[in-house]
Amino acid sequence: MSRSLSVPGIAYGGDYNPEQWPEEVWAEDVRLMREAGVTMVSVGIFSWALLEPSEGVYDFSRMDRVLDLLHANGIAADLATPTAAPPAWFFRAHPEALPVDHDGRTLSYGSRQTFCPSSPAYRAAALRIAGELARRYADHPAVVMWHVHNEYGCHNAECHCDTSAAAFRVWLRARYENLDALNDAWGTAFWSQWYYDWDEIIPPRSTGAVPNPTHRLDWRRFCSDALLSLYEAERGVLRKAAPAQPATTNFMVGHSFDALDYWRWAPELDIVSNDHYLRSTDPESQIDIALSGDLVRSLAGGRPWFLMEHSTGAVNWQPVNRAKNPRELRRNALAHVARGADGIAYFQWRAAKAGAEQWHSAMLPHAGTDSRIWQDVVALGADLKALAEVRGSTAAAEVAVVWDWDAKWALELPSQPSDQVRHLDLVRSWYEPLWRSGIAVDFVRPDADLSSYRLVLAPSLYLVDDESAANLTDFAARGGTLAVGFHSGAVDENCHVRLGGYPGAFREALGVRTDELFPLLPGEKADLTGGGTASLWTERVRLAGARAVTSYTSGPLPGVPAVTRHAYGTGTAWYVATLPDAGTLAALLDRVCAEAGVASVRVTPEGVEAVLRRGEAADYLFLVDHRGAGAEVPVAADAVELLTGEPLKGGTVTVPPGGVVVVREPR
Ligand code: GAL
Repeated sequence: MSRSLSVPGIAYGGDYNPEQWPEEVWAEDVRLMREAGVTMVSVGIFSWALLEPSEGVYDFSRMDRVLDLLHANGIAADLATPTAAPPAWFFRAHPEALPVDHDGRTLSYGSRQTFCPSSPAYRAAALRIAGELARRYADHPAVVMWHVHNEYGCHNAECHCDTSAAAFRVWLRARYENLDALNDAWGTAFWSQWYYDWDEIIPPRSTGAVPNPTHRLDWRRFCSDALLSLYEAERGVLRKAAPAQPATTNFMVGHSFDALDYWRWAPELDIVSNDHYLRSTDPESQIDIALSGDLVRSLAGGRPWFLMEHSTGAVNWQPVNRAKNPRELRRNALAHVARGADGIAYFQWRAAKAGAEQWHSAMLPHAGTDSRIWQDVVALGADLKALAEVRGSTAAAEVAVVWDWDAKWALELPSQPSDQVRHLDLVRSWYEPLWRSGIAVDFVRPDADLSSYRLVLAPSLYLVDDESAANLTDFAARGGTLAVGFHSGAVDENCHVRLGGYPGAFREALGVRTDELFPLLPGEKADLTGGGTASLWTERVRLAGARAVTSYTSGPLPGVPAVTRHAYGTGTAWYVATLPDAGTLAALLDRVCAEAGVASVRVTPEGVEAVLRRGEAADYLFLVDHRGAGAEVPVAADAVELLTGEPLKGGTVTVPPGGVVVVREPR
C-alpha cells in the first residue's frame, strides 16, 4: 500500500497542544489557523497523562472534541502517540523504567523522555496506548498521518541500567555469536579487558581512564537500534489497527544530535520528517538549513520529506535565544521547501504561558495577532498555497557527499590524534563552497550505488569497512572523481587501525602513503604553496603515484604535500590531507568540480542561494537572497514566478532584497 500524505499541496501547520488551554480558546485557534492557511497540525504529542489518567483507564473525550473540531474546519491531524512523555503514575508503578546515566545516577520523572529504552514495562505501556489510539481513530476523517513518539533519543539516547546491560548483551550475541569474536573485535587483550562470560559485559559506564573504543562504538550502535526497535513496535501496532495512514517520526538531523543512525531508520518511515532549529551562534545558518535539508532528502531516498518542526523566532534552550531578523522566517521556511520539504510545520501553534517551554516562540505568539510573527505566519501560509504545484518534485545532483554515523561516532571517540577534528565541521567546510556555487548535492551512505554521480566527496570517513572502501575507490577506477579528506579510511568497522600506512583503505587509490600524523594545535596554521593556509591537521604524506597539488611552506612539515591528485584507473582520486582555509578549499573544490564536469544549477550573485526542484513538466528554481542586496538572475523563456504569479517575459527574475522567488521553468 502506498502511504502518502493526503493533504493537498505543501502542508502547513505546527504542533497543536490544545490541552494546555481552556476549551474556549480552541474556537479562536481554529479560526486563526484558517486565517493563516494552516492545513495540518500535529496533536497529542505529550498528552499521555490526560489520555490515560491511570493505568488502563482512558479518557478520549478531549481528543474526540479536538479532532472533530479540526475536521469541521478542514484541518487535518497528524496524530501522535504520546509515548515520549509517560505519566507520573507509570513511574510510581515501574520505578525500574527510569533511565540511569553513565555515572550510575537514576534520573527522575518530571520532564519528558524519562524512560529506559530497553524497559519491558515502558514498551508494554507505550504499545498499549498506541493501540488504543489507533483503534479509536483509525477511521477518523481528520487523521491523515501517525506521528510516532517524538524525537526518539532526544533526552534518553543512552540508559546504563542493568536492564539495558542485559539488552546490550542480547544485541552483542546476535552480532558476534561467540565471545572469541567479540574479544577479537574489541581488542580486549589490551588492558586486560578479556571477557570470559557474556554476563561480564556492561554498558560503557564512567571509568577512570579511557573506555575501550569498540565497546563504546558498539554501544552507540546498540542504543540507536534499541530505540529503532521501539519505533518499529509502535508502528507495527498502528499499521495493524490503522493501515491507511502513513507513519512518521520526527528526526533531528542537524548540528546538535547524532545519537541515531538514521540510514537504518529512514527505510522504516512512510514519510521522512525532520526538526530543524537554528543555532544563535551560527552567522550563516542558511547553510545549515541547506545541509540538513539535503541530508534529510537523501535519507528519504530523494523523495519529498516533511519539516515537522522549526521555529518562528527564538527557541528557549540555547544560552542566548535570538529572535529571527525581518524576512528570515520566510527565507528559512522556503529554503526547506527548496531542499525538498513538502510540508512546513512549527513548534508550536500557540505560545505556552506555562511549562518548560514558555519562552519558546510559536506561530501565535504571546503578543497575539498584533505582532510581526503573526503577520509573517499568515503571509507564509499564502506563499505555501502558491507553491502547491511544487509538491512531489525532486532534486537531481551530480555530486554525492558521503555521510556515515558509524564513521562520525568512531572519529569522535576519546583518545584520537586530535580532539579538535569534528565530523560535521569537516562536512560543513566542504559543503559550504558547493552551497555558495549553487552546486546540487546528495548525501550517500558509503556503500551506496554511485553510478549516477560524477563526483563523490568523502570529507570525513575515519571508519570504513572493506566493501564500502572498495565501492568508493571502484567509482574512481571506473572513471569517476573521488575526493577524500584527511584521517579517512583509518580504521575498519571494528575500529582497528588499517596497517601499513595512512590513509589505510584509500592509500592505493589516492596514490599516497603517510607514515606519521602531525595534527596542529588550536590556532596553529601552516602556509601553503599558492598562498593559502592550513589548520587543524597535517600529516607526512609521501607520494606513491599521486602528484602534489599544494604543499606546506611552513609548519611541522615544510615541503610535504597537503593536497594530491592521482590518476586512478580511468578516473581521478584527490586527497585533501589538511583543512585548507575557506578560500583555498573553495578554489580547490571549484577545480575538482570543473574537472569532473559538475555545473551549478544557476550562476547567481554571491549570497543568493539557487536550488532546483524537478517536476514532471517543469523545473522549479528557488532563489533566496541571504545578503540583502537583491539580484537579477537569468531564467528560461516562458517562466512564471509562482509566489506572485507573474509571467517573466524578459528572461530574468528580480529577487528582492532579503527575499525569495520561485520560478517555474518549463522543460
Ligand atoms: C524539539 C521538540 C519539541 C520542542 C522543541 C523546542 O526538540 O520536539 O517538542 O521541545 O524542540 O525547540
